[in-house]
Amino acid sequence: MAELMNITGPAAPAALVTFPQDRTCPYRPPTGYEPLRDGRALSRATLFDGREVWMVTGHSTARALLADPRLSSDRRQPGFPAPTARFAAVKDRRLALLDFDGPEHHQQRQMMVPSFTRKRATEMRPGIQRVVDGLLDAVIEQGPPVELVSAFALPMSSMVICGLLGVPYSDHDFFEAQSRRVLRGPSAADAQGANDRLEAYLGDLIDRKAAQREPGDGVLDALVHHQLRDGTLTRPEVLSLAVILLVSGHESTANMISLGTYTLLQHPERLAELRADPALLPDAVEELMRMLSIADGLLRVALEDIEVDRTVIRAGEGVLFTTSVINRDASVYDDPDALDWHRPARHHVAFGFGIHQCLGQNLARAELEIALGTLFTRLPALRLAAPAQEIPFKPGDTIQGMLELPVTW
Ligand code: HEM
Repeated sequence: MAELMNITGPAAPAALVTFPQDRTCPYRPPTGYEPLRDGRALSRATLFDGREVWMVTGHSTARALLADPRLSSDRRQPGFPAPTARFAAVKDRRLALLDFDGPEHHQQRQMMVPSFTRKRATEMRPGIQRVVDGLLDAVIEQGPPVELVSAFALPMSSMVICGLLGVPYSDHDFFEAQSRRVLRGPSAADAQGANDRLEAYLGDLIDRKAAQREPGDGVLDALVHHQLRDGTLTRPEVLSLAVILLVSGHESTANMISLGTYTLLQHPERLAELRADPALLPDAVEELMRMLSIADGLLRVALEDIEVDRTVIRAGEGVLFTTSVINRDASVYDDPDALDWHRPARHHVAFGFGIHQCLGQNLARAELEIALGTLFTRLPALRLAAPAQEIPFKPGDTIQGMLELPVTW
């Protein structure tokens, strides 16, 4: 063990990078992460409260560590990193799935998997297409210019997840606003209040479903009428599943649609190639996932000492996975900053990796293919309605995406 190093070993860069940082271009990692792109697999970073954590930046190391049971996702574990004050304020509130390890996680995940298989996502395609067509009919009828986040990206992903879960879309203004505040409210107290309101709303919905004699056909109806009724799940467990499915189900996909559209409009040659050969669409979605890496900063804590590349991550130390850097590892992706439909991008970690790899990835891929494919087919002259550098995007301390996307055609 003598030659194994910690903090001052070969993994330590000259100056510590702070995490998170805002991007300067919405589809590139923050320029402040440049020191992390020097070929090291592991670096150190400081968080908002001055705490130091490990930052994983190498692709093969990231996949090995994300699959390592010695790293925990349980935010209540001592030393679990809080990237923002907002997160620190809700540290004792465990989310279903994401905050569980081992057999408990496995049990929850097995329960949810049948609703999120590739087959299920394929069966949902005609319904997703109808949602996309309806929204684009309205966009075209309204005429240019249109703000595409509120007119298309957000309602599209909200309608689809509402249909799947059995949440009334008519309540979308309320739950979208609360989700927004949970993910990027102005203060920790604001985020906490929004979380309380979202839980009260979904708790009430669960109780109403439980009182129905005949269950509806949503995923939440099934959880209430089977797992809750037979005691496999408690009400707080069903509620926690409802929160994570509703929030991640609409926010992340909406961000990918808005930022994906912006990125395509900034790469006209790639867009022309895609238009000429729509069969490239599935590969284009993977490459956009890799390049945009919108969930940038997956959180873990070490439960035991873990040796990595002549370095030891000590038990109790925080570990952060910077997906925007991992997905541009030059030893895996040639010319990693280029958008290229012909590269094998599939092994990116934009949906995570290991037991927590995104439950909704099959659904998200179907939504992205249909939304982006249909948008650029029906609006072939689509372009930005404002100078690209003036269009606002989300700060670095939340899931990345466009705040607004004014377009014309
Ligand atoms: C393009 C859109 C999406 C992106 C980029 C994304 C990204 C991710 C990532 C990176 C993780 C792993 C987090 C970690 O390991 O710490 C994750 C987990 C998860 N995602 Fe997604 N996601 C997307 C869409 C969705 C959708 C549509 C749903 C549907 C409900 C969903 C539900 C979940 C759930 C429940 C987990 C936790 C899984 C577990 O812990 O077992 N996501 N997602």
